[in-house]
Amino acid sequence: MRTHFCGLIDEALIGQSVTLCGWADVARNMGQIVFIDLRDHEGIVQVVAEPAQREGNAEMLAIAAAVGYEDCLRVTGTVRRRQSVNDRLKTGRVEVVAERIEVLNKAAPLPFHHHENPGEDIRLKYRYLDLRHPEMQRKLRIRTRLVSALRRYLDARGFQDIETPILTKATPEGARDFLVPARMHPGEFYALPQSPQLFKQILMIAGFDRYYQIARCFRDEALRADRQLEFTQLDMEFAWVTERDVQDLTEDMIRSVFREVAGVELQAPFPRMTYAEAMRRYGSDKPDLRIPLELVDVADWVKDCGFAVFTGAANDPDGRVAALRIPGGARLSRKQIDEYAAHAAKFGAKGLAYAKIDEVGAVTSPVAKFFAEDAFAALLQHVGAGNGDIVFFGAGAYAKVSDFMGALRLKAGKDFDLIEDGWRPLWVTDFPMFEWDEEEGRYVALHHPFTAPAVDSIEALRANPKTAVSRGYDMVLNGNEIGGGSIRIHHPQMQAAVFDLLGIGPEEQRAKFGFLLEALQYGAPPHGGIAFGIDRIAALMAGTDSIRDVIAFPKTTSAQCLMTGAPSPIPEAQLAEVHVQVLKHT
Ligand code: AMO
Ligand code: AMP
Repeated sequence: MRTHFCGLIDEALIGQSVTLCGWADVARNMGQIVFIDLRDHEGIVQVVAEPAQREGNAEMLAIAAAVGYEDCLRVTGTVRRRQSVNDRLKTGRVEVVAERIEVLNKAAPLPFHHHENPGEDIRLKYRYLDLRHPEMQRKLRIRTRLVSALRRYLDARGFQDIETPILTKATPEGARDFLVPARMHPGEFYALPQSPQLFKQILMIAGFDRYYQIARCFRDEALRADRQLEFTQLDMEFAWVTERDVQDLTEDMIRSVFREVAGVELQAPFPRMTYAEAMRRYGSDKPDLRIPLELVDVADWVKDCGFAVFTGAANDPDGRVAALRIPGGARLSRKQIDEYAAHAAKFGAKGLAYAKIDEVGAVTSPVAKFFAEDAFAALLQHVGAGNGDIVFFGAGAYAKVSDFMGALRLKAGKDFDLIEDGWRPLWVTDFPMFEWDEEEGRYVALHHPFTAPAVDSIEALRANPKTAVSRGYDMVLNGNEIGGGSIRIHHPQMQAAVFDLLGIGPEEQRAKFGFLLEALQYGAPPHGGIAFGIDRIAALMAGTDSIRDVIAFPKTTSAQCLMTGAPSPIPEAQLAEVHVQVLKHT
């Protein structure tokens, strides 16, 4: 149908006849002359339909004059140098003088135009129109190049690409499962994988040594800008390795793909930080190191004050009193301070104390009255607060305070325009094995239940699960967790002990993970791995905040596909076939 792509017409083609296909991006009818910006996936070129000096031109001019926005056209013409160069276009030095214009398909009036800044809902409903936009094409192309670069990197290093089942048994990664009724087994269900975790471990037992897969994962959890119900991992597993082997190779891989796809040179080596340090300094296990603010512990400076909330937390071994100094923050109004408190409350804060130090050093603080004057001054000095600053204070349980103070740090970074340019990767290591789940009244795995503890003996682990450290690690980039993995448990006894500690009894272990416990008995090599969030890495490379921008057909935050209308009701007859009855909604 065509000889060239619109976006690739250049000066080398001047004088040549070309046939192009594409959409009419803009048509400008100047009466005796019509300009059409013809667009394909490569870009835009200007087509000119000129006065009817030649035979047949009048008819062509009439067709050109009637061209509408997003009509599909086929144009044959001659490339010539443009009189007025358009620097914004790659093809801006040339144009195509039309000899023949065919309308291959007329477009109905469009539901939206990109220059009107349409809302996301309408863009998602007409996703095919949204995706036509060069910016969306660019973002998805970055994703393609990322996946291609990853594959090439791993293929060159002997990794084997192996597919694992989608219809399978539940693999716990901390989310709810998507279930699929099994027609041939009434009352039974497949689960969609939350990750290929167990299969990749079994592939190591099966002798494949180095595995990868670009794997779709399914997790029924609340959606956010960086979370979808289905998303894509670069999933990897290695046999006979320590954490450093996994980290060194994958760090080099990430550096290599950033260089190739984004033209970014990430530092070498990535800095490393323990989970404890990350929580202490940044209140987050995925710290954004581009923000030059840190939390400061102040328990020792408040433990004898007269404010019970502070002293309670300061004297509790599981408590924390932390301060965040924001340089220049004294200009926050009462209302803005309330917004900070409301933000902290979303992360569980019961209150948010502050101290404002104005330009001449006068202090305003609702908690100053609980301190002797010199004690409050000493506290502010310890935090490094100076004139013009504000200091926020959080007190309560360690994890909660870290969480909401970490959230405030991010908010302040944005609000005060403190986020530095550039790329700040790091490894976060030495995660706790377990986290106490208040609601369930039991320990849950911080990574997943197959992560090895740092101690080798079951007795040592049982003696103190609360402080046990795992062999898990996360890769973090600019405040995003882009990858997570661990060295795995490869002894069946240790695996059973960890299940026990997680409150998974022998019966449940056999029912859910019997195949794994059995496989671990037959010579399971030490092994470990990691999985990277392809959507998140692509979004970072594309410079967008939302992974929806690098997924062709994403779901909304209310878990719907606005284009297809999924999810949707199923006729009763079809449900009966799969032995499912729907409960009445209340
Ligand atoms: P984890 O659960 O940390 O580990 O997932 C690995 C990476 O996948 C990305 N990710 C997501 N991306 C988009 N939407 C989601 N809902 C979502 N959830 C996770 C993140 C994350 O770092 N089996 C283990 C890996 C291992 O131990 O080897 C696992 O799935 O970037
Ligand atoms: P109150 O005496 O309860 O009015 O509290 C005095 C100040 O302490 C107010 O600014 C509260 O927002 C703040 N505050 C209350 N609870 C906490 C907490 N857990 N952490 C930090 N500040 C708090």
